Formats: sequence, structure tokens, C-alpha cells
Amino acid sequence: MVTTLGTDGTPHIAPFGIARTGDDLVIAPFRPSVTLNALEATGRAVVNLTDDARLFAGCLTGRRNWPLVPATTIAGVRLATSLAHWEVEVVRVEADPVRPRFHCRSVHEVTHGPYASHNRAAAAVIEAAILCSRLYLLPWEKVEREMAYLATAVEKTAGMREREAWGWLCDRVAAFRAEGRTRTSSIATAVR
Ligand SMILES: Cc1cc2nc3c(=O)[nH]c(=O)nc-3n(C[C@H](O)[C@H](O)[C@H](O)COP(=O)(O)O)c2cc1C
Repeated sequence: MVTTLGTDGTPHIAPFGIARTGDDLVIAPFRPSVTLNALEATGRAVVNLTDDARLFAGCLTGRRNWPLVPATTIAGVRLATSLAHWEVEVVRVEADPVRPRFHCRSVHEVTHGPYASHNRAAAAVIEAAILCSRLYLLPWEKVEREMAYLATAVEKTAGMREREAWGWLCDRVAAFRAEGRTRTSSIATAVR
């Protein structure tokens, strides 16, 4: 989970896959992105490590109001519940019109608590959160097929956190399907 501050000091939380390339941590947001704007403007971010799948599902379903506390050495914020966090500064940008890559270096790292492992349901929630971030791009059959597959892991292994997160994502997919139906039917009505 990446936390950033906008130029006006507004905090933002978003899940990103972080790639390690040599000493660099690479954050690669597709445009447009609030995180991208903040990285460009401030050159700083915090990478938060968490085992709470609700954070991933929450951010993809409009639930970004997670408790934050100030970072230690940079002007920034971190998730209050992070198991560990890395305060990073941008050292180089690979410019790209679609997906620039921000190479960052960690300037401060703290471990706050033990990582107790994760269950299959947490992994399924994270996969479903990625699907939800791409609903407009993916073929509908793929979304339905993958959600049905991931549901098995949730049914078998979810605790309360994963169950809640899964519910948010299922609601999001259902709302998207309903929106699509409305859009299609209004287009059909207009054509008729
Ligand atoms: C596990 C996970 C990894 C993600 N990795 C990326 C990524 O590398 N690049 C990206 O643009 N979006 C990624 N996403 C989707 C973004 O979190 C989502 O689109 C988000 O809204 C980014 O835009 P924002 O900075 O405006 O919040 C990922 C989502 C999840 C759940």
C-alpha cells in the first residue's frame, strides 16, 4: 500500500505492486493517478506492508478512510496499522506517456509488528481487487470466471476481514454489471 501527500497536504492511499530493481523500489502507476501526481510533485512516498486484505479491497471500492499517522523522516504519512513501512524518495523517473516508472530509494524503514502469514482468502481478495481496478478494460466473461474461481478460496479459508473485503468487491462487480446493463439498455432505447 502506497501513501502519498498531495501538494496541498491531502493524504492518499492506493495499492501498488512494488518491483525491486537492484537498490531501487519501483512504483509504476498508469496515468491518470493521484499517486503519480503526488510522486511527480513531492518526490516522496511511504510503502506500507500489511496483512489486512481489507485495505486493498477498500481502496478499490471507495473506502480510503484508513487511519494514518505521520512518517518519521519525510513529509508524509503511513498507515497506522502497517506491519512495517519504508519511507522512500524518488531518485529517477523513467518517463512514459502511459505508465512512468518511479525509481525510489528507501531512506527510513521501521518494523512495527510480526507478519503472522496470510490465508488463501487474503490472496484471493488481492487478486479480486486487481480485477476490480480493471473492470473497464477486461472482457466481462474473464471477470466472472475469475471471481467464481477466487470465491472458492474465500469460502474455504476466509476470516472476518477477508469476508468483509470480499463482500465489498462482489458489490462493486455487481454494481458495475448493473451500470453496464443500464448503459446498454439506454443506448438500445436511444437507437430504437
Ligand atoms: C495489489 C494491487 C496492485 C496494483 N498495482 C498497480 C500498479 O502497479 N500500477 C497501477 O497503475 N495500478 C495498480 N493497481 C491499481 C491501483 O491501486 C488503482 O488503480 C488506484 O486507484 C491507482 O490510482 P490512484 O493513484 O489515483 O489511486 C493495483 C491494485 C492492486 C489491488
